[in-house]
Order: sequence, then C-alpha cells, then structure tokens
Amino acid sequence: GTIVHSLALADLQVLPSAAVGVDEDGTIEFLDPNTRSAEASAEKHSWPVGSYSVVSSDPASVSFFFPGFFDTHIHASQYPNVGLFGKTTLLDWLNSYTFPLESSFADLKVADNVYSRVIARTLGNGTTTAAYYATVHTAGTNLLADLALKAGQRAFIGRCCMDANSPDYYCDKTLEDAQKATLEVIEHITKIDPNHDIVCPILTPRFAASCSKELLCWLGKLSTNTNLPVQTHISENMLEVELVKSMHTFADSYAGVYDKCGLLHDQTILAHAVHLTDDERALIAKRGSGIAHCPASNSALTSGETRVKWLLDAGVKVGLGTDVSGGFTPSILHTARQALLVSRHLSMEGDESHKLSIEEVLHLATVGGAEVCGLSNKLGNFLPGKKWDAQLITLDCKNSPVDIFPWELKTHEDLVAKWLFNGDDRNVTKVWVDGKLVAGTAFTS
Ligand code: GUN
Ligand code: FE
Repeated sequence: GTIVHSLALADLQVLPSAAVGVDEDGTIEFLDPNTRSAEASAEKHSWPVGSYSVVSSDPASVSFFFPGFFDTHIHASQYPNVGLFGKTTLLDWLNSYTFPLESSFADLKVADNVYSRVIARTLGNGTTTAAYYATVHTAGTNLLADLALKAGQRAFIGRCCMDANSPDYYCDKTLEDAQKATLEVIEHITKIDPNHDIVCPILTPRFAASCSKELLCWLGKLSTNTNLPVQTHISENMLEVELVKSMHTFADSYAGVYDKCGLLHDQTILAHAVHLTDDERALIAKRGSGIAHCPASNSALTSGETRVKWLLDAGVKVGLGTDVSGGFTPSILHTARQALLVSRHLSMEGDESHKLSIEEVLHLATVGGAEVCGLSNKLGNFLPGKKWDAQLITLDCKNSPVDIFPWELKTHEDLVAKWLFNGDDRNVTKVWVDGKLVAGTAFTS
C-alpha cells in the first residue's frame, strides 16, 4: 500500500505503491518502493508462498501507513487533569492542580483506572512509544509498567524523585526514601521485561527545583553505572529558572546544575527548554542530550515559545511531548499541529527562520522522537532493520473528521496536510508495536 515516512528533517517520503516485509520478530526485512503487489515483493525476497500474510492499506480508501508516534514527555498520572489549568502558570499550577492529583496515586485503584485509560488513549492516537512520568509511589509506578507491557506499548517508566522544596503531603521524605523507591522500580521492571525491550526504567528527578544536590548526583552516578536513561524538566518558566538559580548555587546555569551532577548525557530527555541561553544550548549539544518540545503545554501555561529551529541548528536532538496535563491533548498529531503554529508565532516576531513545515513537525513526531529516546537505530521510520511500529491512517473512514474532496486534492502531500490539521484518533484504524497489532479503531482484542 501507500507508505509515508520521514527520512530526514525536511524529507517526508511518500511511496504510493510499496511493500514492506516484516519478520516474526517485528523487524523490517525489506522495503520495496515500487511494487505491483506484496506477493511479488515476497517472491523477490525468496519468502515461500504461504509463509506470510498480507496487510494492505485499503485500495478503495484514502489510507496510508505511517510510523508510530513518539511522545517524549507525558505525565501519565496527570491525565485526569487534561484541559484543567485555568489561568495558572507553572509553579502555582503545580501546587493547585498537579501535586494534589498525583498524591491520590497512593491508592492503587486510582492508579489502575487512570493508567489503563491513558495507555489506551495514547495507543489509540498512534503513540507507540511514550516516556512516562508516574508519581512518587513505588507500587503505582510498577503498575504503570505492568499495564504498558500488557497493552504492548513501548514505554519509559519514570518514578518521580522529589526530596526538596515539595509539599509535605507529596514528596520523598528523605534522600534514602527516594533512592530505595527508585531501585525498587528498576528491579520490578527488570523482572517483567529483562532486556527492557518494551518497558524500560528511566531515572526521573522531577526537576532541579524539587531535588537536593545529593539526590541529583546520586541519580547521575546511577545512570552512569547502569546506562539507564534520564528524564527531567529544564527552563520551562522564568520563575522556575530563578528558583533553580537561587537553590543550586554550585552551578552557573540551569543546564549546568544537571551537568555538574552527571545527568546531561546522550540518554537524557530534557522537557521544554523554552528559556535556554546560547551557552546552555551549546552544552546540551555537546553532551548529546535531547529536547522534548511541548508546544501545547508551553502555550497553555504561558511558559513561552521554544525555538526549535535554533536548537536543531546547533545539532540538538528534538522530539515532541504532549506534557499531559500541562498540555491539554494526549495526541502527538495534535501536538505536531501546535508545534507548527508556535513556530509561526515565533516567526511573526520578526525572524522567518523559526517557521516549521509539515514535513519537519512530522519528523519531530517520529524520527526526532526516536533520536531523543535513543532508539533511532531501531525505530522512527520504515527503513530495513528497524521495527514495525506503525499506524494505518484512513482519512475517509466512517465518522472521519477529515472531509476529502477528491477532485481538489492533487498530491499525497495534500492528504498528509489534511490529516495533520484535521485528523484525529478516528483516522487511526490499526496500530502495531514490534510487529504486533495492538490498537486502532479496527482492532478488537
Ligand atoms: N516541572 C516540574 N514538574 C512538572 C510537571 O509536572 N509538569 C510540567 N509541565 N513541568 C513541571
Ligand atoms: Fe512535564
């Protein structure tokens, strides 16, 4: 069928009639760009007749295969609060909306309910890999890993560390508590998925403003010793930047705090990066850390506008994050739309070079996300050797939010534009992770 995927930042490849061969392990063996049939391709690659089955995009429909999305920053526990933020900004939003909700995850019934729903919702929107923050609770965080594994969604699972400057009712009471809980979660996830193929622990200092220097440095050492990835927030809001500066005087910048504690490396995901200085950008580029760009959240909480092109120009990796529930949507398609619009707001301030194209935001949603998650050798597009994490998009399905006027549409690129701006999960008919069908409107478990 029709394949659409990103090869490079501004290079979205459309193959109207292609065949992809996927083996039993979910690995792509071949991508034939021009073929009359899947059978012809299978024969060319010496696949015996009867040893394979064929999945096609519906020839009678406007449909195409697209790589699964990466959500490089999402707080699974905050899903009940999507859309609720009033006129708050980051620090008062945390205190009035977020910490009270997260503290309720001491109750495993709450965790089970919310986590099951957020996984189903994101998978249904085509998110095949998510970097999740859970809460401080060990049992709840372990449950999130269990549920993601069961649903077949690739997930980084982060147990929030916060031993400083946090409310008494929701924090790590001591450094030792944070350490013990972190190790327990790593142990649990390693037990259920020993090679971390589908679910992987991720070290999660909430942000520099909620962690002691001792905790940050312990996590940095742990990351070095275990090779586990790290996720945290950086320079989201100006008051936060000032708070971090006043709390951690041992470093001369926000990025410097993480760097001095060994937390800035090529397996680190930094969310937001709205207010970085030129020096911080250079440091992050040098360390090979990636940025989770969260445009919906940055607009909702009036945090600011991340300069994505400015980051990319310096060689910094960038992916997209919903940042539920600073962000109001669990959809990466919607987040890509927001990224495109925010880039236009930046360009309206006078510098056209900030403007992102459709190809570029879809790159960030897939290949960019894979880079940020350290998975670009195995995910992000449909090149042979990578895994079949994919979505089948159907634009003229029943109840589609996209109205197609065939005589007006000249190219596949037009269809992709229609999808980006008007599509939603009603268009996601099938979702595969690791070659296995796991979700979509045409999926029944
Ligand atoms: N900084 C620290 N915690 C959070 C959080 O939960 N969401 C966002 N957007 N920023 C944060
Ligand atoms: Fe966040």
